Amino acid sequence: MKYVITGGAGFIGSNLAAEFVRAGHEVHVVDNLSTGQARFLTDIDCHLHRIDLCSPTTDLGDIVAGAAAVYHLAANADVRFGWQDRRRDLSQNVIATLNVADACTAAGVRELIFSSTGSVYGQAAVIPTPEDAPYPIQTSLYGAAKSAAEGFLAAYAEAGLLTVTVFRFVSVLGPRYTHGHVIDFIRQLRRDPMRLLVLGDGTQRKSYMHVDDCVAAVSTVRTGEPFSVVNLGTAEYCTVLDSIGWIVDELGLAPVLEFTGGDRGWVGDNPFIWLDTARVRSTGWRPRYTIEASVRHTVSWLMANPWVLDIVDSRSDAQADPGGGR
Ligand SMILES: NC(=O)c1ccc[n+]([C@@H]2O[C@H](COP(=O)([O-])OP(=O)(O)OC[C@H]3O[C@@H](n4cnc5c(N)ncnc54)[C@H](O)[C@@H]3O)[C@@H](O)[C@H]2O)c1
Repeated sequence: MKYVITGGAGFIGSNLAAEFVRAGHEVHVVDNLSTGQARFLTDIDCHLHRIDLCSPTTDLGDIVAGAAAVYHLAANADVRFGWQDRRRDLSQNVIATLNVADACTAAGVRELIFSSTGSVYGQAAVIPTPEDAPYPIQTSLYGAAKSAAEGFLAAYAEAGLLTVTVFRFVSVLGPRYTHGHVIDFIRQLRRDPMRLLVLGDGTQRKSYMHVDDCVAAVSTVRTGEPFSVVNLGTAEYCTVLDSIGWIVDELGLAPVLEFTGGDRGWVGDNPFIWLDTARVRSTGWRPRYTIEASVRHTVSWLMANPWVLDIVDSRSDAQADPGGGR
């Protein structure tokens, strides 16, 4: 079968592309390589189309035509820097999504899978947070944009134009990881192995999942409804300090920890994120990795692929990223 993956040169998308190619499918990746890496695809037998999804283009219609499904993962995937460029989440996460939805409907593709986020719940009142929990207040432009994109896709589904499955992920870890707290901490420790600056007080509680578990769910779990929302995560959470313990243990270091203080790391950080995953578990899906195993695997993959750290270092220098971890 033919599948199209937008953002397929990125962290999660390239793992999904690898999975579909392994299963014998024809895979087309659409990516502008803004954060994605063509190098992630070198061993994957797929077609890379370098296109910016923020501008409508007829090329996209030709690419998606005949696809069994379009997996729309292209986005600004970083929660933290929305306030540095207040239009970025709107254009990359909302407008790009509309352009993909329109290309699908014009080309007669019915099935669209959308990568959303647990960040849409903001500072959730109900934890673990189920899909039908109220989330009246957004705490980041990223969450606001993903929530808006979900709303647009719900309207396309309601109009009978698309069948849409929205997956709301917790933070994802594993091979080809390029952003998030593990890489932030390793980048700091490469500069100074004796000292680690932690945003907040380290007691923030977060849930994480391994990218293999994420890909297994995204590629197989469907509800049969025209529009559905499915949380994805593990049935556990950890503190930032737990994760730091696994990272420094994996690296064989014992740095002095310094804290910026407060119960959250940055404006829009949510001190406790843990999703209720009963819905996805009811389909039979189960995560194979614990959070600890996911963190340790990410560290070992990054240490074996230091070119990724170099690229993120140069990108983050340009962005003035303090790199305290999220
Ligand atoms: N990684 C996580 O922890 C996490 C958690 C929740 C949700 N998500 C969502 O999962 C998806 C994939 O995230 P990721 O971690 O792989 O991020 P990523 O940055 O590695 O991948 C995003 C990809 O989209 C591409 N892209 C961005 N804007 C584009 C545009 N305008 N046109 C074409 N391509 C564009 C980038 O080049 C990149 O390859 C995103 O939608 C993200 O919001 C990720």
